[in-house]
Amino acid sequence: MKISVIGTGYVGLVTGACLAEIGHEVMCTDSDAAKIRTLEAGGVPIYEPGLDQVIAKARKENRLRFCANPADAVPAGDAIFICVGTPPLPNGDADLSAIDNVARMVASEATSPKLVIEKSTVPARTGQELKRALSVYTRRPGVTLRVASNPEFLREGTAVEDFLHPDRVVVGVEDETAERQLHDIYRPVLERQFNCPVHAGACPEGPAPQWLVTTINSAELIKHASNSFLALKVSYANMVSDLAERLGADIGEVTRAMGMDPRIGPSFLNAGLGFGGFCLPKDLQAFVRLAERCGVDFSMLKAAEKINKQRIDRFFDKVREALWVVRDKPVGVLGLAFKPNTDDVRFAPAIDLIRRLLEEGADVRAYDPQAMEKARAILPEVAYAPSAYDAAQGAEALVIATEWPEFRALDWEKMRARMRRPLVLDARNLLLPGEMRARGFEYRSFGRPDVVAEPQIA
Ligand SMILES: NC(=O)c1ccc[n+]([C@@H]2O[C@H](COP(=O)([O-])OP(=O)(O)OC[C@H]3O[C@@H](n4cnc5c(N)ncnc54)[C@H](O)[C@@H]3O)[C@@H](O)[C@H]2O)c1
Repeated sequence: MKISVIGTGYVGLVTGACLAEIGHEVMCTDSDAAKIRTLEAGGVPIYEPGLDQVIAKARKENRLRFCANPADAVPAGDAIFICVGTPPLPNGDADLSAIDNVARMVASEATSPKLVIEKSTVPARTGQELKRALSVYTRRPGVTLRVASNPEFLREGTAVEDFLHPDRVVVGVEDETAERQLHDIYRPVLERQFNCPVHAGACPEGPAPQWLVTTINSAELIKHASNSFLALKVSYANMVSDLAERLGADIGEVTRAMGMDPRIGPSFLNAGLGFGGFCLPKDLQAFVRLAERCGVDFSMLKAAEKINKQRIDRFFDKVREALWVVRDKPVGVLGLAFKPNTDDVRFAPAIDLIRRLLEEGADVRAYDPQAMEKARAILPEVAYAPSAYDAAQGAEALVIATEWPEFRALDWEKMRARMRRPLVLDARNLLLPGEMRARGFEYRSFGRPDVVAEPQIA
């Protein structure tokens, strides 16, 4: 099928590349001309494992193209995926102005029938507004423009795999034609008929993806309800962690056992600095605002948000307790991305944490395996180290702000030898207190016993 993707950010690029990978003819566009120039020159503006190979292959086989003018992309597709950003407004509502812009542009450029698919995360009832905008701005009233919702559940860091091996594909539609068209688009994924670039033909066995057909309103609600539930889970684990700290229990032991209950599940139960990124914080806020507008008091979500915002304060208590005075102390920070395996620093707790360290006068030296370029653009005043070992050089404390697995595998003897004081403040509970004690570190984390230095002076 011929498909256009409007908005070539994280979701649009993965969507476009993966749809091309499974055999469709895809045209991607974006209002950011620099992004399209990078892609046309063979570059990839984001770090996402495996994505560069998928893009290169699809381009070589002429199934993936890019164009700088979004209006030119409209005629190229029978189905148009809207993947533009829906960032938060100051009051927490989702800013839908990019969706509105695209609707007006599609309505005025479409000369043949189109299925217009919302993939961006939007509040329930946006599809209805989208339909209205398409019909108001269309220049050719005879041209049918159908609307569907197809929320995206991919996770940055494993986005290609998630797109090609989803647990479910949700489509919100209003008629059978739209459902059939979407089914044709996803058929190779649903029937697992594609050469998987992630597993090189040896995909793990598992149930086939569920095909879920709903109303447009339900599909939109499913996405917000899912992300908000994950946010609740993280904040819940963080509160249990605070309690574990007071009681002398170990949050790792507690959440591990909790997660073994299939009704609870192990993911999103990690205690630490809280959730960030371009999805959970904004989707939670937008969901609260949507509920308010509908007269539903969803205060449990407000509590989850408040708990999340307090995590930096909670961590800072630990920083002060360990360092006493922060001003002028060299502090190494490992991790800038909002989670491992991505270069995305949007709403990253690590960034807020560094801002706080700077406010307190710390001399910050940061390292991240992928996100330093993006972090530098928003935090130019920070010194960036070429490696984790360089970030540790001369530091009086080392903060772990993102749980990159490679930080676990560092040579911690070498790290200790480089530090002025062997103090690790682990805001992601990445390492184990017992191991850090054995390696000669002072070590603090969330919800687990601290390893503190014995006083040497009587
Ligand atoms: N990032 C994720 O992990 C993820 C996962 C699921 C859903 N989502 C949702 O998908 C949407 C996009 O997220 P993202 O992370 O890809 O954002 P992004 O900021 O990386 O990408 C959005 C892109 O849209 C472009 N754009 C904005 N207005 C445009 C217009 N009028 N015409 C053409 N292009 C335009 C921007 O230049 C940008 O490149 C959001 O609604 C988000 O909530 C994101």
